[in-house]
Amino acid sequence: MQDLPSDRDALRALLDFHVEAGVDLALDETPHNRFAEPKSEPAPARSPPLQGTASPAASPVSPLPRALPKAAAGAPDEVASLAREQARHAQSLEELETILAGFEGCALKFSAKNLAFADGNPEARVMLVGEAPGAEEDRIGKPFMGRSGQLLDRMLATIGLDRSQVYVANIVPWRPPGNRTPTPQEIAICKPFIARQIELASPEFLLCLGGPAAQNLLGLKDGILRTRGRWYTYQAEDGREIRAMPTLHPAYLLRQPLQKRLGWRDFMALRRALDAKE
Ligand code: URA
Repeated sequence: MQDLPSDRDALRALLDFHVEAGVDLALDETPHNRFAEPKSEPAPARSPPLQGTASPAASPVSPLPRALPKAAAGAPDEVASLAREQARHAQSLEELETILAGFEGCALKFSAKNLAFADGNPEARVMLVGEAPGAEEDRIGKPFMGRSGQLLDRMLATIGLDRSQVYVANIVPWRPPGNRTPTPQEIAICKPFIARQIELASPEFLLCLGGPAAQNLLGLKDGILRTRGRWYTYQAEDGREIRAMPTLHPAYLLRQPLQKRLGWRDFMALRRALDAKE
């Protein structure tokens, strides 16, 4: 292993470099040089990421389809279909959260500090769905708690809403390490849970925050700048149709402040739709 610099400033600079590069999680007490390990040595058994729920006591719902067949461990399709079965089992948002907390089919669970299931009011007329939690959301265990969340709150305030009048969630409820983009497999595994969450919350309006939410929930192929601001139909599995609009993600608006006017237009369209249906 590379020698560490001995003075404080150099160590801090090295640490900052890692954090900026997205390496901001310590998974173990000491570093491992995986290249130096003998090929035959099995990887240390940290946690079993591709099992079913942690224990029968993890959920009040039973019988819950739990373990993956051994042969299927690692096959994303099998894990996604287990996720679908488990998600369908939930009869309430509380049950869904309990099931998700015990679900071990997504490896992100094992690097995240907390499950960031939802924030706001599950009875709200409006549900907003983002991509995945960041560091602050992971620390607190709720979606949209950091800078993006603060901007989101300001945007909601411009149309007279606050968190008690909206319900907020993410497609992926665990933080990807270093805030990397969730992989298509991770999204496929988590999607049945967010689909069930939308179904159980049953909002009148769904706002997809950013391209990934719009593409994965509404099946849109075009980029967010083309699709934003228009109403689409979200087709819930129970047959319900929900009016849904893609809009720009607050994290994007923080990087591109001039685009805030587009976000504001979308929020005004939501306000009009709310008023028209009151
Ligand atoms: N970005 C998201 O998409 N979701 C969060 O919860 C925070 C930032």
